[in-house]
Amino acid sequence: MIITIDGPAGSGKSTAAKKLAEALDITHLDTGATYRALTLAALRAGIDLEDESALIDMVGRIDIKMGYTDGNLRVTLDGEDVSREIRAADVSDNSHYVACSVGVRDVLVAMQRRMGAELVGESGGFVAEGRDQGSVVFPDADVKFYLDASCEVRARRRCDEMPDADYEQVLRAIRTRDERDSTRPVAPLIKPDGAVVIDTTDMNIEEVTAELLSHVRSAK
Ligand code: C5P
Repeated sequence: MIITIDGPAGSGKSTAAKKLAEALDITHLDTGATYRALTLAALRAGIDLEDESALIDMVGRIDIKMGYTDGNLRVTLDGEDVSREIRAADVSDNSHYVACSVGVRDVLVAMQRRMGAELVGESGGFVAEGRDQGSVVFPDADVKFYLDASCEVRARRRCDEMPDADYEQVLRAIRTRDERDSTRPVAPLIKPDGAVVIDTTDMNIEEVTAELLSHVRSAK
């Protein structure tokens, strides 16, 4: 079974995708991690992030792998565990450069489809989470979801995960990222055709997961 969950930052899709995958005994595919890993590699290499051909060259040379240890996602970049580093604020703030490039997306989309095919072979399916999963990467998915929530609630959730963060600053960053993700010319964040739209503003993660599960069960 192939399930996609798209939505903006802080909509609850990562946690929900993980919990849904656990409940269905399939794997969670966090595609944002591929954009983050490339952004981290480019920042470390000191590449000009506006130089698209340098980014395309780099994405062809790096090796990104994902796996789970004790239920936690582990992302490796050329063999180094970068699971924590890819969540840093400078990676979040700079990921739009790689996300805007058609050439980079072609490579990452092919990588995500390859990962998906492996997961179908291993566990019979996966829950892919990102911005373009139901619209571009897996348009024939069995069930598609689009999760959303108010900007204020999404900022509050991010602050709960990062106790040192400043709420107003996080809110501004979320608004900027929303704007960039939904207005870029290539694979913008949209509600995919046929997606079940869920507003998680007033829901906790258990309620979100239960609602996703009930849609998946009725689609089986
Ligand atoms: O989901 P996450 O916040 O980890 O994604 C980081 C960035 O990667 C997003 O802001 C977006 O620009 C990009 N992204 C994307 N397509 C995806 C997943 C993430 O463009 N499928």
